[in-house]
This record gives sequence, structure tokens and C-alpha cells, in this order.
Amino acid sequence: MDMEKILIVGGSSGMGLALARRCLEEGAHVIIAGRSEAKLCAARDGLGRPGTLETAVVDISREDEVAALFTRIGRLDHIVSTAAAIEGAYRLLPEVELKAAQRVVESKFYGPLLLAKHGAPKLPPTGSLTFVSGIAAYRPAARGSVVAAVNAALEGLVRALAVELAPIRVNAVSPGWVDTPIWELVAGDAKNETLAAMARRLPAGRVGRPEDIADAIRFCPADRWVTL
Ligand SMILES: NC(=O)c1ccc[n+]([C@@H]2O[C@H](COP(=O)([O-])OP(=O)(O)OC[C@H]3O[C@@H](n4cnc5c(N)ncnc54)[C@H](OP(=O)(O)O)[C@@H]3O)[C@@H](O)[C@H]2O)c1
Repeated sequence: MDMEKILIVGGSSGMGLALARRCLEEGAHVIIAGRSEAKLCAARDGLGRPGTLETAVVDISREDEVAALFTRIGRLDHIVSTAAAIEGAYRLLPEVELKAAQRVVESKFYGPLLLAKHGAPKLPPTGSLTFVSGIAAYRPAARGSVVAAVNAALEGLVRALAVELAPIRVNAVSPGWVDTPIWELVAGDAKNETLAAMARRLPAGRVGRPEDIADAIRFCPADRWVTL
């Protein structure tokens, strides 16, 4: 049997990076993808396993880049995207810039749409697509309007794709607060203080670690029945 091959867009950071580590440990062939080659190289050096790890520079908001990526990759079993570009979008309404809002929509809605459009034809019937929405869709907070709306839209997209692409399975994982580099963009220097305050509000007494969510995401490709 061929080795399982999994594309992880967002695999250079946070949850995607933790997922890449988990999949490599399990013996999968992993392609981590993102916009920054430097971030991908740093992740690759940290992950090791050069025989089963590849990197791919791609901006999933660009259809030509997504199409070219799937032409290059060839056979593939599963696609995951944890990508989010939220720079400048986590703001009170008067300070929200349309360009920043558009980047969130492009990375978390059009990106998944394009990955499904160009990637699904490469997948076997047992294949899957998994995307990452987020708690803001259900428990919005001030400054989070754009992120809340996009997470909800992504979940709507995923439900429709699960019907249209069946038997390929399509899922969304919705994390709560997780300690990843994204919080440097959201909270800046106040990251640690912000996450500590959130941890005090949670029954578990701590925010999530990227590995916690990697386990939840990993379940979606691995379980042959789960689909939204
Ligand atoms: N952390 C939390 O507390 C939390 C809570 C709820 C939901 N979420 C969601 O969980 C997901 C993962 O978050 P994270 O915290 O792991 O984020 P992260 O550490 O900031 O990682 C985001 C990844 O996405 C890539 N990326 C961004 N835009 C891209 C694009 N247009 N094309 C290709 N790659 C792109 C980034 O690489 P480049 O910059 O090099 O492209 C990076 O690898 C996101 O969807 C986020 O919204 C996070």
C-alpha cells in the first residue's frame, strides 16, 4: 500500500505545524504549504524527516497558484488547511480596514473553496478535506466581527461541500483559544497576559496547545466515516 500523503496548508505555524509533526510521527508523507518560504524552511528544519516531508510555497487566495500546486503534487490522500491571515482584521469596527477584512475572507473562505475546487479531483473516494473555523463564530467578542463572520461562512461552505463532494469527506474543526503565533497579531505584547486571562475563564484552566487541536484535526482524515 502507498504511504498516506497529506497536504497541510498552514503547516509552517501553530496548529498546522503540530499536525504536520503528528502525521510524520505516524509515518505519513506530508507537504506543508504557506506563503512564506522562510517560515516553511524553519518549520522543515524543526520537523526533520527530509525523506517524507516536502514544502510548497502557495497563497491559497490565488487560483493560479492553487491550480499549479495540485498539478505539481500529483497523487494525494488528504487536504487540510489551517491557514488564516488576520493581520489588521481583529479591530473595533471604526478601525477595520476593508483590505484586512478581505485577507481574512481570502484565506479562510476563498482559499478553502479553491482547495476544494482544484484539490478534490486529485483525491481518492476515501480522501478528505478538513478546514479550521473557530470559536468566534459562536461566542463573538468585540473586535472579532470579521473573524466571527468568516468562521461561520466557512462552516456553511463545509456543509455544502460535504454533500457535493461525497463520498470524499469534508469537515471543519472549530477550536477555542489556542496558544499559537496568531496571538502575536491579535494581542501583540499583551499576548501572555491575554491568554492567561482567558485560561482563568475556562473549565480546563488553560488555553489549548497546538497539539490538542492537531489531535482533533487528525481524527477527521483518519476516521473513514466522519463528514459534516
Ligand atoms: N489560535 C487560536 O486561538 C485560534 C482560535 C480559533 C480559531 N483559530 C483558527 O485556527 C487556524 C490555525 O490558526 P493558528 O493559530 O495555528 O495560526 P498561525 O499560527 O498564525 O498559522 C497560520 C498559517 O496559515 C498560513 N497562511 C496564512 N494565510 C495564508 C494564505 N493565504 N495561503 C497559504 N497559507 C497561509 C501561515 O503561513 P504564511 O504566513 O507563511 O502564509 C501559517 O502557516 C486558523 O484558521 C485560525 O483562524 C485559531
